[in-house]
Amino acid sequence: MAMAKNTLTITDNRTGKQYELPIENDTIRAADLRQIKVRPDDFGMMTYDPAFTNTASCKSKITFIDGDRGILRYRGYPIEDLAEHSNYLETAYLVVKGELPDRKRFEMWEHNVKVHTMVHENIKKFMEGYRYDAHPMGMLVGTIGALSTFYPDAASIHDLESRRLQTRRLIGKLPTLAAFAYRHSRGLPYVYPDNELSYTGNFLSMLFRMTELKYKPDPKLEHALDVLFILHADHEQNCSTNAMRSVGSSQVDPYSATAAAVAALYGPLHGGANEAVVRMLTEIGSVERIPELIKQVKAGERRLMGFGHRVYKNYDPRAKILKKAAYEVFEVTGANPLIKIALELERIALQDDYFVSRKLYPNVDFYSGIIYQAMGFPTAMFPVLFAIPRTSGWMSQWAEMVRDEEQKIARPRQVYIGEGERHYTPIDKRPVPTMREEAVAEEI
Ligand code: CMC
Repeated sequence: MAMAKNTLTITDNRTGKQYELPIENDTIRAADLRQIKVRPDDFGMMTYDPAFTNTASCKSKITFIDGDRGILRYRGYPIEDLAEHSNYLETAYLVVKGELPDRKRFEMWEHNVKVHTMVHENIKKFMEGYRYDAHPMGMLVGTIGALSTFYPDAASIHDLESRRLQTRRLIGKLPTLAAFAYRHSRGLPYVYPDNELSYTGNFLSMLFRMTELKYKPDPKLEHALDVLFILHADHEQNCSTNAMRSVGSSQVDPYSATAAAVAALYGPLHGGANEAVVRMLTEIGSVERIPELIKQVKAGERRLMGFGHRVYKNYDPRAKILKKAAYEVFEVTGANPLIKIALELERIALQDDYFVSRKLYPNVDFYSGIIYQAMGFPTAMFPVLFAIPRTSGWMSQWAEMVRDEEQKIARPRQVYIGEGERHYTPIDKRPVPTMREEAVAEEI
């Protein structure tokens, strides 16, 4: 039998010409299509892919997802393994540097991150300037952007040492900024970092410490937060990571690019779904009302929040881990009554052909909001809790992009469907628009 060739042959039926394109990693290069032309001066064939649903924008060694089998791995390590044995800072090291650290390297990394937990006093003043009811995620977007003015050295993006320094600074400062945003919304004084505590223990201290001299985080809550942070560290080319890479490709400093990534995460379709789950479960109120909700969902009147995923067509492995972690948290906080509704909702949905046939399973947001709520976080803080751990993923993806010689400034093409060339008419000579034309103008 002849050896199969790793190429794709395309016949252009407009011209009858054939083209043979190389295949690498089950992918063809979109730029190879440009040779397909009707006339020599044509621009050449492009692909049209709104929302990049079938376009790989980069090659990456960081995160692997197999959505059909429900697999998530960072640098080859299964998420279940990391959630069970690692802590967030160690996982962040793995995500950023590619390997798990030995003890000496871990201790150095922990030290290097912790020396950056403080923020400049002017940042504190800057945050005090937000209105009393400012959304903490809005505060985070603005404040991370402002960090670029404090660290002009961050503009040296091709300098390895500078990239390392900004990575440690951002991972170190994110919990501090997040905690300050939370305290601001509560009208409470900001609590400075306590570097004797773990990364997550210190975060809990900056959030919840009151008059006690030394805050002692509950080890179970500290651990649960570590697990939550591990699960959120990276998720390959999602909306915010794509924003990080795209904005970063202009060679702007990483603080500005991270502000863009946080802005992307702010949206309800990305970092805000766990809040929608809590709202939905609260609205259901009791297990007896679940069938009514399922009926509405099946009638297409609403979506079951926390269910379904663009990539996972199986149980989201992160949701499985969180379902277990919820009980660890409840041992300390007391059960969140919403868990009963969530479990029953999941049971009913997973037996229903509507959800089974569409491969709709619980995603990471189905249980995370319930846990955050039990820990005492207001819903506005949920996306902020997502942003803290995702910073290691963003910085790792950004550095990979900066080092990748195939990458250039991100600049997609478009398919132009507007007017052909027309000429300017003075304002008084323009025809009066018809009602339809006025209506179209208003649609914008
Ligand atoms: N409830 C009911 N039906 C659903 C749901 C849902 N949550 N999700 C998808 N469907 C149906 C959808 O109506 C469609 O049915 P049909 O084929 O009859 O038209 C089919 O399933 C495919 O849906 P889709 O909209 O083409 O799928 P998508 O890949 O574009 O959407 C999603 C993915 C996550 C936006 C969607 O599943 C959804 O809206 N889920 C609820 C919101 C949510 O939980 N988001 C968190 C995502 S995970 C965290 C993150 O990545 O930030």
